[in-house]
Amino acid sequence: MKILVLGSGGREHAIAWALAKSPRCETLYVAPGNGGTAAIAENVPTLDILDGDAVVKFAQEKAIDLVVIGPEAPLVEGIADLLRQNDIAVFGPNASGAALEGSKLYSKQFMATINVPTAQYLAFEEVNAALDHVRSQEGPVVVKADGLAAGKGVVVANTTDEAEKAVRNCFEGAFGDAGRVVVIEECMTGPECSLLAFVTGGEAFCMVPAQDHKRAYDGDKGPNTGGMGSYSPVPLVDEKTLEAMEAIMKQMAAATQAQQGPGGSAIDYRGVLYGGFMLTDEGPKIVEFNVRFGDPETQVVLPRLESDLVDVMEAVALERPADIHLSWSDQWAVCVVLASQGYPGSYEKGKPIFGLDEAESMDGVVVFHAGTKLSSDGQLLTSGGRVLNVVGLGDSFEEARDRAYAACDKIDFEGKQFRSDIGYQIAPRTR
Ligand code: AMP
Ligand code: GLY
Repeated sequence: MKILVLGSGGREHAIAWALAKSPRCETLYVAPGNGGTAAIAENVPTLDILDGDAVVKFAQEKAIDLVVIGPEAPLVEGIADLLRQNDIAVFGPNASGAALEGSKLYSKQFMATINVPTAQYLAFEEVNAALDHVRSQEGPVVVKADGLAAGKGVVVANTTDEAEKAVRNCFEGAFGDAGRVVVIEECMTGPECSLLAFVTGGEAFCMVPAQDHKRAYDGDKGPNTGGMGSYSPVPLVDEKTLEAMEAIMKQMAAATQAQQGPGGSAIDYRGVLYGGFMLTDEGPKIVEFNVRFGDPETQVVLPRLESDLVDVMEAVALERPADIHLSWSDQWAVCVVLASQGYPGSYEKGKPIFGLDEAESMDGVVVFHAGTKLSSDGQLLTSGGRVLNVVGLGDSFEEARDRAYAACDKIDFEGKQFRSDIGYQIAPRTR
């Protein structure tokens, strides 16, 4: 098969890596791709993945058999719809399905209709009503811009002052149109855990759970980031909890066929549904749904997949749930994100990266690239906030983690920063 993956992060490198392992993968393109995907696929740096006509044209010219859409923005833009209209098989929901991530208000309404456990909420279109509401609340609240805001639209406000500031920020246009509606939620407490599922034909095929580390610094301190590390499996999810989480994913998948999208549009859900769960005293509840693989969860989930990802993604895209068979290894996987100094704030790019070959040659180590690129003379350079995702695999958590950190020590670039406590929930790390 000729396959095109859209995206350029660590998630897309992990997806491309898993696809490339399949004997069925004949030609693989990644658009735009990064320094890591360049080694296993042909990068298409000039293709604008938000330009549907350009994506269709490229897919037709190259006779692509399957397009895999990595990030949420092209899904919300309706790139999957356009490809399907042109009879090109796509892994990724249509725009109406993608609204489960693209509009937090729509997503909450969807959950309320089918009684999915989640935080109580109210939505506002006007600043004074929103301010009155947060002033009337006791204790922390969560303020969310309705639309996509590159992960920056959510504030967990511990004080009324913080909540008011977050509300004003949204309505003053910090997130453009995404902040025209503001959703204010009850603040839930408990550990978070991600459960991703392949969804097609109204059925959900759950992957293995993973846990992300969202804060920038050790001990879950500092600002929220896109994710500084992850691990799988997640021992704090016991069997009963996992059953409850899987039941929610299956209920959601069934509802993609029974419910309507925004404005009564039809949902066509063939892709990944990402359940972001909080494990509260009252059981698992949904923090949010995403309509794509998680980053960096994918980097610890796909290395544990024993089934052929091409088979799975094709079955999803062609709506053949009966053809989906997932098997998983018992291995542990731990991912440590190497970031640029200053991330998630401003940071410099273009720093040469050293020691990668040595790290990659270590037993049980896979390195996925996030923000890297090759210079014209072939030197690997940093080109983003999250630079590399170093994954250790092993028979125990400790083995996987120690392999990941040993590989992290081999890699060097100016300003390299990373958390030294990934997986502390399972076992503290002693240096
Ligand atoms: P989201 O973009 O909706 O996933 O929110 C980002 C992060 O904010 C989540 O991973 C949680 O850590 C936190 N968060 C969002 N909603 C809530 C909530 N209702 N209660 C507590 N924390 C939340
Ligand atoms: N790791 C969080 C996300 O992918 O949204």
